Amino acid sequence: MKIFVNKGKLADTEDEAIILALCEGEELAGPALQIDTKSNGLIGELIGSHDFEARPSQISVIYTRGSLPAKRIVLVGLGTRGEFNLEKLRAAFAKAMQHLRTLNIKRAATSSDLGFLPNSKDRVAQAVAEGALLGLYQYAPFKTVDREHLKDVEQLTIVAEDNDFPEINAAVENAQAIARAVYFTRDLVTAPANQMTPAILAKEAGEIATRRGVSCTVLDKVKLNELGMNSLLSVASGSNEEPKFIILEYRGGETDAAPIVLIGKGITFDSGGICIKPSEKMDQMKSDMAGGGAVMGAIMASAELRLPLNIVALIPATENMPSGTALKPGDVFTSYSGKTIEVINTDAEGRLILADALAYASNYKPAAIIDVATLTGACVIALGDDVIGMLGTDDKLKGELQEAARQTGELVWELPLWENYQEQIKSDIADYKNHGGRSAGAITAAAFLSKFVGDFPWVHLDIAGPAWADKDKTYIPKGASGVGVRLLIEFLRNRARQRV
Ligand code: BES
Ligand code: MN
Ligand code: ZN
Repeated sequence: MKIFVNKGKLADTEDEAIILALCEGEELAGPALQIDTKSNGLIGELIGSHDFEARPSQISVIYTRGSLPAKRIVLVGLGTRGEFNLEKLRAAFAKAMQHLRTLNIKRAATSSDLGFLPNSKDRVAQAVAEGALLGLYQYAPFKTVDREHLKDVEQLTIVAEDNDFPEINAAVENAQAIARAVYFTRDLVTAPANQMTPAILAKEAGEIATRRGVSCTVLDKVKLNELGMNSLLSVASGSNEEPKFIILEYRGGETDAAPIVLIGKGITFDSGGICIKPSEKMDQMKSDMAGGGAVMGAIMASAELRLPLNIVALIPATENMPSGTALKPGDVFTSYSGKTIEVINTDAEGRLILADALAYASNYKPAAIIDVATLTGACVIALGDDVIGMLGTDDKLKGELQEAARQTGELVWELPLWENYQEQIKSDIADYKNHGGRSAGAITAAAFLSKFVGDFPWVHLDIAGPAWADKDKTYIPKGASGVGVRLLIEFLRNRARQRV
């Protein structure tokens, strides 16, 4: 769907539907009041009869019967004004657009003037655009039967006053770039593992790099051997698909400015390896490259938004498979950092491939390192399906991510990375072991990662819970969520603002 910003009045637009988001128990104001007046009180009548009370995401459709140029008014509820936030607005617009899609409506219009929040029309417009776009996501490349029944809304117009136009237009441009990145990531994560091998993921990365200022380098198996990336290679050893170490670099900042390094776990399928997983829900493990997908989406949007920063994305990519050549419990190898690792559980593969990527990041002398990974089921047990677990060594960086999360509506909660946990990952015969037992599994995974991080500010984000939605959630349709993409972009935009 395309979003346009037009100057004018919502009451005058001729689209198939006008969308109005209303708060519970409030007098009509702004465009809603104008439309109500012009239509001889159609909205007031509905509210007066309690057919529509503006409860969160409640929907009502009114036919204007010629009283307005538009054919329908679609009301969507925001809940009470006291509890209003931008996340409610994203949810409301996702719901409204999904409803329009079921009605097979192609063109709709709305306003960034909610009748309150007069000074935040640009933020309102951004949230409206994000909610609308993200909520309409669908993945259909493999649907061949009844394709003609696939519906999609084609156009949303956001009507703005002349004075507000430039700001609102810029906000909507931003929202569209961000949504494109989220769609890109959702597509990568949803793609089945036979269609999203490490080689295909690397090819996708190469395609992003056709954007201005982005370069892509892919290290293949020969090169990885030369470099001694044995931690990544050990995980890859069970698979017929060759591993790839994907490096994307975006140079938008000063030549000598230290880059921010984003690292994403790129396991294109996690069977568990020799410590094979139960078959129930194993199909979902095609999404084990969601961290890699998120950092690819984030760097792509950063380039589109021309952020004045240097950013590097590192994605170690491989399958984790059982076979006669696979990594075995008890195996020991020397990682890229020179430190030795004893494998206790081959299903704790994410931390193995990240260990080499984290150590490799030191080569850039980065300003910050953020890794994003569907790392542990333990994080899901601790925090649930919707929450990103955050651990790290730098309070300022953690604070910046918390702030970004407040803005995007993604939920981030910190877990402690205290000294006491380090005991659990000491190996009897090597430097470290990749499994610290059942207790505090999300934390000991991060403790393991910390051993491979140089002396740089570092934060680890465990997205095992929110990367995949088992059911529809407001603007996240069931399936790959693209979590982390907006969070990273917001964090980077905030950093870019601090610099100027
Ligand atoms: N990819 C999984 C983690 C995961 C679990 C992601 C559920 C999404 C949903 C990871 O590689 C894994 O298997 N972790 C193990 C670690 C354990 C063996 C120490 C886990 O969490 O069970
Ligand atoms: Mn695993
Ligand atoms: Zn995994």
